[in-house]
Amino acid sequence: IDVPSGKTTYKSPSNIALVKYWGKKANQIPANPSISFTLNECATVTTLTYSKLEKESKAFSFEVSLEGKKEEGFKPKINTFFKRVYEYLPFLREYHFEIETSNSFPHSSGIASSASGMSALALCLMDIEKSLNPDMTVEFFNQKASFLARLGSGSAARSIKGSLVQWGEHAGIKGSSNLFGIEYPHKVHPVFQNYCDTILLVDKGQKQVSSTVGHDLMHGHPFAQQRFSQAHENLSKLESIFASGDIKNFIAIVESEALTLHAMMMTSQPYFILMKPNTLEIINKIWAFRESSKTHVCFTLDAGANVHVLYPENEKAQVQQFIKDDLASFCQNRQFIHDFIGNGARKI
Ligand code: PMV
Repeated sequence: IDVPSGKTTYKSPSNIALVKYWGKKANQIPANPSISFTLNECATVTTLTYSKLEKESKAFSFEVSLEGKKEEGFKPKINTFFKRVYEYLPFLREYHFEIETSNSFPHSSGIASSASGMSALALCLMDIEKSLNPDMTVEFFNQKASFLARLGSGSAARSIKGSLVQWGEHAGIKGSSNLFGIEYPHKVHPVFQNYCDTILLVDKGQKQVSSTVGHDLMHGHPFAQQRFSQAHENLSKLESIFASGDIKNFIAIVESEALTLHAMMMTSQPYFILMKPNTLEIINKIWAFRESSKTHVCFTLDAGANVHVLYPENEKAQVQQFIKDDLASFCQNRQFIHDFIGNGARKI
């Protein structure tokens, strides 16, 4: 089949890890398995316009724009991504690409735009692959999209589907793979099905540590092996927690995972403190509120100062009031984003 030109658009969400991916081997293979909630509101929309070149080009031929403005700064990252995926998408040198991307959240707000951005781009490329090979199944399409997204940014492998996605080989999870994310195959109690996540923008500054540098810090880290085993143990514990709706123990694992991620950064060489004073203020406020309100609000963190506030849907009114009254003042310009669990990426 010859496809001279075309255009495709995907909207792909960010995700928030419950068991964190931190540390990797060659070829974007995770050092430990992870699991995340797929988000709904925090997303990237990418339109890929492609036209066939007269002859295959040596260098990848593409332009990138963010929110309508040319973005030269993104090109090296995308070029690296193209190099990595070329062996799986041989048409890459046959086309010129215009990549137009926009985020639903402020850029460099510290929200993982690499997960939504790389998964959206991987899906657009798979769409071209599908027009060249129309027989592929939906399952294969999604699996390969996750596989390709992983090569752009590890956590992006978990953004193709929803609502709970697991990535990385784990003995207790049938079908789990280091190569792509899968929808969590075990029972999930309804209380976890409409979970909410409000992202508090504590520090919108440029990331102090890129995730590439961060993952590298786990090589030769004195606690690496214990940490990787702990991630496996936490995933095993989550199986009965998800099935029974045991939010108390869910909270114990999720908060410990967040603090462990930061503890790894504080104990590496070189070492980093990515939390800000307001991050700690917020954590203490959440703990005090959980105690006094008898709600099940808890927090998790990415590799930065922002706080993700997690709570079940039926406590939404009470927790969102608390966020507005007591937590917003610790955010930059009182900024936060109410999000909730979503179903993954879609074509638009
Ligand atoms: O996808 P990367 O390479 O940017 O790594 C993301 C790592 C964390 O966000 C800190 C944890 C995770 O599992 O998403």
